[in-house]
Order: sequence, then C-alpha cells, then structure tokens
Amino acid sequence: MPQTVQGVVALAKSEPVQLVDIVIPDPGPGEAVVRVQACGVCHTDLHYREGGINDEFPFLLGHEAAGTVEAVGEGVTEVAPGDFVVLNWRAVCGECRACDRGEPWYCFATHNASQKMTLTDGTELSPALGIGAFAEKTLVAAGQCTKVDPEARAAAVGLLGCGVMAGIGAAINTGGVTRGKSVAVIGCGGVGAASIMGSAVAGASPIIAVDIDERKLAKARELGATHVVNSKDVDPVEAIREIVGGNGAEGVDVVIEAVGRPETWKQAFYARDLAGVLVLVGVPTPDMTLPDIPLLDVFGRGGALKSSWYGDCLPKRDFPMLVDLYQQGRLDLDAFVTEEIGIGDIEAAFEKMHHGDVLRSVVVL
Ligand code: APR
Ligand code: ZN
Ligand code: ZN
Repeated sequence: MPQTVQGVVALAKSEPVQLVDIVIPDPGPGEAVVRVQACGVCHTDLHYREGGINDEFPFLLGHEAAGTVEAVGEGVTEVAPGDFVVLNWRAVCGECRACDRGEPWYCFATHNASQKMTLTDGTELSPALGIGAFAEKTLVAAGQCTKVDPEARAAAVGLLGCGVMAGIGAAINTGGVTRGKSVAVIGCGGVGAASIMGSAVAGASPIIAVDIDERKLAKARELGATHVVNSKDVDPVEAIREIVGGNGAEGVDVVIEAVGRPETWKQAFYARDLAGVLVLVGVPTPDMTLPDIPLLDVFGRGGALKSSWYGDCLPKRDFPMLVDLYQQGRLDLDAFVTEEIGIGDIEAAFEKMHHGDVLRSVVVL
C-alpha cells in the first residue's frame, strides 16, 4: 500500500521550501523504502531550490542521510528490512566501461528508483540526487543503501552520504594522501574540514589549513590541521612554502581546493611541490574558467591536476570502513554536526549555511 508521509519540497524556483504530505509507493523490483533517521543540510539542496541544478520542480530535498530499511522490492539481496544504512547518490552499475576497467567511481550509469514519489495530487517529485531524504520515508534503489554498524549515531554517519565523504575521499582516494605526505587544504567548510580530518587519519604531516574565516581555521585545528593560514592576511602560497620549505620543497605533496573558484585554484596550483597533486573538490559555477597561468608553469611542475567527484568513493567499501573508524573514536564525525534540527527548520538552516555559521545542520527524525 502506498503511504503518505511528510517531506520537505521545493515547489517553485527560489521560493521557501514547504513541509507537505508526499506519497511513497511500495518498493518495486530493485528498490527499497527507507525510514529516514537523520539527514544533513547541504549546499546542493539550496542549489536545487534556486533552480541551479535543473528546473524539474517540485524537488523533494535532502540527500545526506542514514536510516532503516523498512521494505524491499523483488530481487533485492543487498539489504533487508531492519538494516541500518547510509544512502549514496551514485549506485554503481557494475557493467559500464568504467566499472569493467576496475574504476567504478567513474561509473557512467546512475541507479535510482524508477518509480516516482508524488505529491498527494499525483504530481511527480524529483528527489534531490535521486534520494529525497528530508522526509519521514523515502524510496531509493537498493544499491543506494549501504549497510553499516547499527550502533552508530545516525546524525553523524548520514553525513558520509555526501559532503564529508567528498572531503575525505578527495584527500585519500583522489589525492593519494598517505602517512608522511604534506597536505594543504584551501577552504575549510564542511568539505575542506573533512579533507583535513581524512588527511590526519591517513597520517599526513604537515596538514595546512587555509581559509579567510577564523572560525573555520579554529575548527580545522581541532580536526587535525597542524598549521593554519588566514589568506585574508597573508599570501597563502608563500605561507605554505615557508612551512614546508627547507629541504628543497617548493610546496606540499597534495593540495585540496575546496572552495571552487579560479583564484583559489591558482593558489592551489602554485602551492604544490614539483610533481605535487592538485585536487579540485569545491564546485565551480558554469561561468568560471581556468585562471591565467603560463603553460610553461604547467609543463615545468609535473604532478597531476585532478578533480574529485563524490570523493571518488565506493560506498560499499568506504562507508562501513569510515563508520567503523568513527565507532572506534578515530574519526570525529560528530564535529561536523553543528546542530540537530527538526524537519520544519530547513529554511533557517539554509540561512545559517549562507552565513558560514555551521559546518552542518542535521535534520533528526
Ligand atoms: N580563500 C580561502 N577560503 C575561502 C575563500 C578564499 N578566497 N572563499 C571562501 N572560502 C572558504 C569559506 O570561508 C568556507 O569556509 O571556503 C569555505 C567553503 O565552505 P562551505 O561554504 O561550507 O562549502 P562546503 O560545503 O565545504 O563546499 C565547498 O563546494 O559544493 C561546493 O558550494 C560549495 O563552493 C562550495 C564548495
Ligand atoms: Zn558502471
Ligand atoms: Zn550534498
């Protein structure tokens, strides 16, 4: 029987979101209905509301979530009712060229539920990133559910579903951060702070945090940054070179750019050591272009200029591993939960996010 539950919907471009009744169909083949326990508020939810992703309104927002599987459809074997899961927005297909060549994080297919959740008048909803978890329940593809330790705090581990995974993965998966490597992170919001924490867990040193907001730099220190640089006051490239200089290093082994702007990308480019890796994980806007950099400087430095999409993560491998580290007290996911809020408080959370007051507001149901 289809069920009616409450969900947060962006009905029209740039209008405040509304808590309304939505209809969840029974799970079809390969699908699961999940009772949501917690869901973080991410920039992407706001981008959807602003029409910045596409114009397929109405959107059911929310996509950084953990919950319990309530029911599964025909043929579902990966999860069962009662399983505690973290949701992901990219279930790999296992069949495309990227999957075949052993790089499923580049998978070309997206596996979301094929049935649609609707408003009570039958209007089809577009779930944010194929998830839509600012709701008491949601319908997803079973492959979007990854079973993790049921003892873990939902508000914390749900964050692995997007921003925190993007940040940790940018460092470890994309950047190849390992023990002893030097790392700089430019932009220490939710994503960059996670890159710092991931680098610390991996054993990197030094870990240099760069931001223009002292509050973010203080948080970065808590999460494992060994040095902080306020780039409002000093040239971050010079500051980074000074910290790692001394044995011929011209910069750090890995720079994570977690702002998504040409000027910070340029700083990241020059803050690398020769043969260093630059990872772009901040999301630029469509009007932005590469900064003006002499091609000879690209040629002369070697290394790699990369981008990281969803932290190049493999949910089945990475989510349970990171939840276990969290449960062991080695990965402080709680530090990202600035506040727990109710499902009716999303607009206020967007406002706080806009002012940089929070790493994450998390809806708890
Ligand atoms: N130099 C250094 N840091 C900067 C600069 C700058 N010029 N401009 C902004 N920042 C910092 C902000 O102070 C903030 O701490 O970058 C951080 C961005 O963090 P958030 O706004 O919390 O964004 P986050 O969720 O971490 O996402 C990172 O990817 O998804 C996009 O829109 C998102 O561009 C953002 C980026
Ligand atoms: Zn694939
Ligand atoms: Zn997100």
